[in-house]
Amino acid sequence: MAELNLILLGPPGAGKGTQATRLTEDFRLPHIATGDILRAAVSAQTALGKEAKRYMDGGELVPDSVITGVILDRVAQDDARDGFLLDGFPRTVEQADSLGTEIEKRGRRLTAALLVDAPDDVVVKRISGRRVNPQTGRVYHVDFDPPRLAGRDDDDGSELVQRDDDREETVRRRLAVYHAQTEPLIDYYDRRGLLRRFDGTASPSEVHSHIRAAISTLQREDEL
Ligand code: AP5
Repeated sequence: MAELNLILLGPPGAGKGTQATRLTEDFRLPHIATGDILRAAVSAQTALGKEAKRYMDGGELVPDSVITGVILDRVAQDDARDGFLLDGFPRTVEQADSLGTEIEKRGRRLTAALLVDAPDDVVVKRISGRRVNPQTGRVYHVDFDPPRLAGRDDDDGSELVQRDDDREETVRRRLAVYHAQTEPLIDYYDRRGLLRRFDGTASPSEVHSHIRAAISTLQREDEL
């Protein structure tokens, strides 16, 4: 079967992480989430984590020079040989160029950039109710996608937490950064014929079934 090399794009809170959890189970792909990688580095207090924290807490992007090498190394690991789902990378045109060059060098190509989109007022509401399992990164919402037992993860019972960068003023800054630095990637991938758009305001299961159907179609087209 052809490789599935996928990128998830979209504003903070649009549902990239929520969909990634479901899609990686459907298609057995490693979920490479830059935010999760950086948060793990922050909590382990590694050099990467110490450098990243001051940007993340302010809602700014970590510099390309800090993040790009980490993600390109991750994509080159064995479990991503037959495909990957990148969530949160690339986020700038420079990162997109680096990714394109690197995977081409390895004789691979991107399958699609999946845009999950939602307006600013919707994502601000979502992020304020988000709760996360800090061990696994699984995401919930207190109203829209609650755990079975309040405050506890359905799978391992861990205590759910609120992310440090989910305060409203930081979210507004993250949105401004998204519009300025990441949104140009929509056009970037559209021009390359790779963009697929999904309405992130539908329910999580509707968004999931739309994306899953689109990926299955891409897989079938590749096999013809
Ligand atoms: P990152 O962790 O990647 O954050 P983000 O892109 O801002 O995205 P989020 O995780 O906030 O949202 P999401 O789209 O995954 O939504 P979710 O599924 O959780 O990055 C954090 C920081 O790290 C950045 O600000 C930056 O500093 C740094 N960083 C990361 N990558 C970088 C890079 N490449 N370069 C430089 N810096 C980088 O859903 C949100 C909530 O809504 C949840 O509660 C969920 O349950 C609920 N929900 C989801 N879908 C629905 C739905 N359809 N209906 C109702 N509720 C829903």
